[in-house]
Amino acid sequence: MGAPLKIAIAGLGTVGGGVIKALANQENGLSIRAGRPFAIVGVSARDVKKARGFPIENFTSDPLTLVKSDADVVVELIGGEDGIARKLIEAALANGKHVVTANKALLAKHGAELAATAERQNLQLKFEGAVAGGIPIVATLRESLVAYEIQAVKGILNGTCNYILTEMEATGASFASVLKEAQKLGYAEADPTLDVGGGDTAHKLALLSGLAFGVTPELSAMTVDGIEHITPADIHFASEFGFRIKLLGVARRTASGIDQKVHPAMVRARSPLANVDGAANGVLVDAGEAGPFFFSGRGAGEAPTASAVVADLVEIARGSYTPVFGRPASSLQPFKPASAGAALTPWYLRFEVLDLPGVLAEIAGHLSQSGVSIESMIQRGREHGAPVAIVMITHETDQSTVERALKAIAGSDKVRARPCMIPMEAA
Ligand SMILES: NC(=O)c1ccc[n+]([C@@H]2O[C@H](COP(=O)([O-])OP(=O)(O)OC[C@H]3O[C@@H](n4cnc5c(N)ncnc54)[C@H](OP(=O)(O)O)[C@@H]3O)[C@@H](O)[C@H]2O)c1
Repeated sequence: MGAPLKIAIAGLGTVGGGVIKALANQENGLSIRAGRPFAIVGVSARDVKKARGFPIENFTSDPLTLVKSDADVVVELIGGEDGIARKLIEAALANGKHVVTANKALLAKHGAELAATAERQNLQLKFEGAVAGGIPIVATLRESLVAYEIQAVKGILNGTCNYILTEMEATGASFASVLKEAQKLGYAEADPTLDVGGGDTAHKLALLSGLAFGVTPELSAMTVDGIEHITPADIHFASEFGFRIKLLGVARRTASGIDQKVHPAMVRARSPLANVDGAANGVLVDAGEAGPFFFSGRGAGEAPTASAVVADLVEIARGSYTPVFGRPASSLQPFKPASAGAALTPWYLRFEVLDLPGVLAEIAGHLSQSGVSIESMIQRGREHGAPVAIVMITHETDQSTVERALKAIAGSDKVRARPCMIPMEAA
């Protein structure tokens, strides 16, 4: 058995606490796998007095002092895209320490630059816990699915959104009331914006794109739409068409560049992604000639995320070296977005209109003028002058064309609310 791997852990919350417990409870098995024991030489959080349910030794409230310790690895589990987390990682690398983090917000923004810093010094920067919690998708894209060009990655990457959509479907309740319930049960944060607005999925998707396509993680070239505007009616109509609504992060190789977006999508009810329910995550990888691969499991929480962080620590203990994004940081290509019109899908469109003569003809006219053709249509509710829902499925069309048509339709005095558009994914 080799010398202990010395670890300093900054952040003793959900994930940090889980890592400490996992290292304490399973040290023997882990040490055998790693070929050496693990020693926690320092920990940091804000509040020394907080009851944490595990023993605390070598505590400091200033995480930056950890980089002056004799730790081999600094584990950053504080969070935040800049601030103390970024300072800590930079200082750790500057002081010759390997880094493990679960901080997707920070890596989506600074990942390429930090990877280059780490690699210049032969240091590891590992982040399995940052994407899809316990699902080992980072290592899979970095080390396993490498023989053929990845064509697409599609993921349900945010458990809060998936929980809300699943509950809306099961109960018929509105987004707002299910969100409130989810907050009570601890499935949603007090400020849920980053989750329900799609930002958290965007962070994770940027990292998956980097790993899958060998590009710099890039948030600015991503369209991001959340689930706040999804109604029980949309979920109901989706099921009539044989689909379910999921918040997806989708990154696809196209001839002109990478099409990368976060949006609620209609997913065929029998496909694997459609059957990821509750707070679970799922990732579908189209690995070209190697075929499609599907992964699902717990995407957040103490034990699943600690499982991913500890796996990174075991890899470091073994002394194996892999570039941060699976290829040297210097070879990551600048992100090139797909040109508008490169990605075509059918769209679900829902209009809330007054049931007046000529309304359907007006909508159809705008769609046809913009070049959007309709494959099928449902109209519900028939009371003269009262609001009714008109739902249409289009033939394959690009997003900007549909947006243009909907903008014109939204201007009509017969249209009651913002029209809803949701892409339909083949898988
Ligand atoms: N929770 C999950 O399921 C999950 C899943 C995947 C990835 N992640 C990522 O893992 C990271 C940690 O998440 P978490 O849920 O464990 O967070 P958390 O429960 O809020 O814990 C954060 C920890 O950081 C400490 N902290 C905050 N500011 C600090 C500062 N200025 N100096 C020193 N310590 C500070 C807090 O100290 P106190 O305890 O004293 O307040 C706390 O121990 C985040 O990047 C998150 O995105 C979380």
